[in-house]
Amino acid sequence: MLENEALSAIAGATTTAELDDVRVHYLGRKSELKQALREVRDRETGMVLNAVRERLEAAVDEHRAALERADLEQALSGESVDVTLPGETFPRGHLHLITQIRREVEDVFLGLGYEIVDGDEVEDTWHLFDALNMPPGHPTRSPLHTLFLNGDVVLRTETSPSQIRVMESRPPPVYMVSLGRVYRRDTADATHAPIFHQVEGLAVEKGITLADLKGTLLHLMRALFGADREVRFTTDFFPFTEPSMQASVSCFLCQGAGCAVCKQSGWIEMGGSGLVDPNVLVNVGYDPEEVSGFAFGLGLERIAILRHGVPDIRLFWQNDLRFLRQF
Ligand code: DAH
Repeated sequence: MLENEALSAIAGATTTAELDDVRVHYLGRKSELKQALREVRDRETGMVLNAVRERLEAAVDEHRAALERADLEQALSGESVDVTLPGETFPRGHLHLITQIRREVEDVFLGLGYEIVDGDEVEDTWHLFDALNMPPGHPTRSPLHTLFLNGDVVLRTETSPSQIRVMESRPPPVYMVSLGRVYRRDTADATHAPIFHQVEGLAVEKGITLADLKGTLLHLMRALFGADREVRFTTDFFPFTEPSMQASVSCFLCQGAGCAVCKQSGWIEMGGSGLVDPNVLVNVGYDPEEVSGFAFGLGLERIAILRHGVPDIRLFWQNDLRFLRQF
């Protein structure tokens, strides 16, 4: 009789709140059933009472599920959403121009089968200077030029030490690019920033020549500045390449006719390059009689400044949205 009374109370509950009250009344700690269970002395009575409890609990669960289903159905039929109304737009940012160019360059080299290597911004003087064939008196080694942190720990002034770290870590062949920040003790002005970005490239294998370097840079320049570009080399000097060359791209503004950007020459200097100096190969344990390589280093800001006509390198750091939103 208690069971029947409870069952009809459960069935009669029309909301989940009502059902909760019924559950507390018939199954709660102070309910008759629980009191009786606590006082049970013999096995048979215990079994009977527990079976009643289980049936009531099952009935509560079942009825609760039915009530919830009914609630949901009512909500679904009562409310309707006009999915054709315009949604709320979220203000979304986009990648900084330098990051965009970094990824573009990475994509070009991934397409050529190169590996992308993260270098270290904090370096030691072996990887930044000595292994790159810079003698002790080289001007870059002055604390007026390089930021020394502690003893021979420095902030890298170029991405070139990542060449050394990769070659030290394994035998040739190597095809890698490494992109990231570099630090120089320069005062910021329209064309200088104490922090900027470079892409370093290195290929070492049997039989690498300047023709490979030229073809690779031509491919990159055409990807960045347009399919009609040409590349030319002029002689230069870097301690870690021999011969060393400045790589220039044909002016994409005047198509080589001569304008203010290319200083009437038709060519724009893009960065240093050359064949890896045999001393560098020896420094990392490679045999210069066996393998040869090319290397290059370009500034990412310089690519951006040229391609987008940015008048001042400091704009990249000022976070002025009127500038950043243009790209
Ligand atoms: N590290 C040079 C610089 O910062 C750029 C450079 C020149 C990198 C020649 C190279 C290279 O790998 O072969 O000015």
